Amino acid sequence: MRGKRVLLGITGGIAAYKIAGLIRLLRKEGADVKCIMTPASCDFISPLTIATLSEHPVQIEFWDRRNGSWTNHVDLGLWPDLFLITPLTANTLAKLAHGYADNLLTATYLSARCPVMIAPAMDLDMYAHLTTTENLERLRGHGVRVLEAQYGELASGLVGQGRMMEPEDQLKEVKNFFQGAHDLEGKRVLITAGPTYEKIDPVRFIGNHSSGKMGYRLAESALRRGAEVILVSGPSAQRLEHPALQLIRVESALEMLEEVKKQWEQCDLGIFAAAVADYRPAEATDQKIKKKEDEMSIRLVKNPDILAWAGSVKKESQFLVGFALETNDAVRHAEEKRARKNLDLIVLNTLEEAGSGFQVDTNRVHLIDRNNKLTSFELKEKSVVAEDIIEFIKSRL
Ligand code: PMT
Repeated sequence: MRGKRVLLGITGGIAAYKIAGLIRLLRKEGADVKCIMTPASCDFISPLTIATLSEHPVQIEFWDRRNGSWTNHVDLGLWPDLFLITPLTANTLAKLAHGYADNLLTATYLSARCPVMIAPAMDLDMYAHLTTTENLERLRGHGVRVLEAQYGELASGLVGQGRMMEPEDQLKEVKNFFQGAHDLEGKRVLITAGPTYEKIDPVRFIGNHSSGKMGYRLAESALRRGAEVILVSGPSAQRLEHPALQLIRVESALEMLEEVKKQWEQCDLGIFAAAVADYRPAEATDQKIKKKEDEMSIRLVKNPDILAWAGSVKKESQFLVGFALETNDAVRHAEEKRARKNLDLIVLNTLEEAGSGFQVDTNRVHLIDRNNKLTSFELKEKSVVAEDIIEFIKSRL
């Protein structure tokens, strides 16, 4: 990162005090750091601290009332290689999403030509509010990279999602942006995500709680690193658009297998995060089944194991990663799955660990390699978990 110019935008949230640490980390990596603060953020951390650590004057207002000098937001917007707004309050988020330019930071955002990252931080209910979700979605759609808020204890004393991503993890994201941005260039990555729905009749199915979040975050991470990604997704509300993405939507395990069979041979890396139903109804009816008897049975037949198929035809040059979702005796079951399905790596997550598995935005994963070496990570946001997994895979490719 030597010589890279990072412009930090600091807004008025309690997490602003952590930005002193972030500046030190960035400076240690050799980055040139300038900072814009909103007036509200100066209540949370002194501009003198920020100026001293960044070794640049801090910009707060459009003009300095004492000597009448003008701070040009256009020049500031053209200076950086990356503009990172951290912490980002709900208030400034709303302004960015709707084009307000009522202070130096928001005006500079509109002038910036470089990529922009944001690290939202707010109370859990503000973060979960539909307005915030829509504003984040809007900025994502404008190409802004969101360093999602983390789960944990908040300044209010409540526990939930809303904590600013820790400075160390923000640094990782910034480093990936500069160094690793293209380290998967030329690679084709096949990812499976979401649940499968196994049809009973036109209105009912057998499914599971997978939201697709883990698989979609992995796809985002691989795309960011320059890979071409084929994402075979079961029914999921997640959305993703990217010029290097081929998104194939399927419903059942049989459909997922068919698509995976078409794609796997041309891919360098496979990451199978889908929660595939192990069984499907032996017969699906075309008419809705009517309520008659007090009891009814549905005969189930085994679905093919898609990952095991990919492992059985895997070439020397291909790297295959599976997931294991366990509830008990987790490591032993995961090791057994890794070996049986001929995987290079298995990602274990267990429902015994709070904040892990289905639906939630966080996950705690344990990676098991071909030598059964176990590497455990902390509970993190799924976007950060995806970065950790891809980083690990890259070190083994
Ligand atoms: O989607 P989210 O809400 O974000 O939740 C993420 C997740 C919990 C679904 C994900 O992290 C996860 O654990 N995915 C795998 C779930 C699962 O089905 O695990 P399993 O232990 O039953 O399967 C082992 C592996 O074989 C998995 O890679 C699975 O994709 C694959 N498999 C399983 C059965 C089958 N018929 N075909 C398969 O390919």
